[in-house]
Amino acid sequence: MVSVGELYRECSTEMSVSGIVDAEFDTLCIFQDCLGDKNPLFRPLEAVHADTEKRIRSMVARRISGEPLQYILGEWEFWGYPFKVGEGVLIPRPDTETLIDDVIRLCRENKLAAPRIIDLCSGSGCIAVTLKKELPSADVAAVELSQKALGYLRQNAELNDADINIVAGDVLSRELAESLGSFDIIVSNPPYLTAEEMNNLQTEVRREPEMALAGGNDGLDFYRALTPLWKKALRSGGWLCYEFGMGQHDEIGNILAGNGFVNINFSRDLGGIVRTVCAQKQEENNG
Ligand SMILES: C[S@@+](CC[C@H](N)C(=O)[O-])C[C@H]1O[C@@H](n2cnc3c(N)ncnc32)[C@H](O)[C@@H]1O
Repeated sequence: MVSVGELYRECSTEMSVSGIVDAEFDTLCIFQDCLGDKNPLFRPLEAVHADTEKRIRSMVARRISGEPLQYILGEWEFWGYPFKVGEGVLIPRPDTETLIDDVIRLCRENKLAAPRIIDLCSGSGCIAVTLKKELPSADVAAVELSQKALGYLRQNAELNDADINIVAGDVLSRELAESLGSFDIIVSNPPYLTAEEMNNLQTEVRREPEMALAGGNDGLDFYRALTPLWKKALRSGGWLCYEFGMGQHDEIGNILAGNGFVNINFSRDLGGIVRTVCAQKQEENNG
């Protein structure tokens, strides 16, 4: 029988030689998952059971084939909460935690004790579920169109015991935008990659759904459509919060200003990139 240490060295070398950038990290995650041990390398001489070895080797082979680590593991963490992921749903990214920070700050600064929040293009539900967990008095809704993503969204709400209203629908539909009532905060991380970026995707990202990534020629189609459409679903003085891609901030600021939004504030992600924006619908008594 092979030992943990021997198998770890073999698998991480195989991954590294195959060009997997974070070969050691990915191997460690696979070992943690298969051995059920946070520190599998603390006992390098321990024998690996034949079934477990087979499972590890199969996961390593999938990783080498270009499948994202998160899909192989089937679960990934966002803001400290677990989210089920797999083919057909976007993997939650750490950059998106900037949006969570923004919304929590907005609620605190504006003393919104029980805000009505809607997450458009919800995917795995990482934004809607996390906001419900962090702001338990909030009334949170989540809209998603993809049937596969909706399956994960429902699972993740249940997994995290988050009582949110899941709406299967098209965020570009006028009827939908006009039917859900009035919100204090609308939050969205819509598809925002440009046509050129879509042609040059990393191997792993190519495995994620095109519908979660493609934002039209310049990546801004959703912002142009959602801003006027969902402005009507915001209460006077309510907030619209977006995530967007690197370098898109000026154009998104223009779209928001062009639609009459005020107090347009941008935030940077942990990498220092301008990543999110919150903008206020003008109070009615201010004109
Ligand atoms: C960039 S992903 C964001 C997913 C998730 N909010 C996150 O931050 O990880 C965009 C999501 O929008 C969904 N989507 C694309 N077009 C849509 C539409 N017209 N109506 C509703 N959802 C849509 C995709 O299926 C995908 O789940």
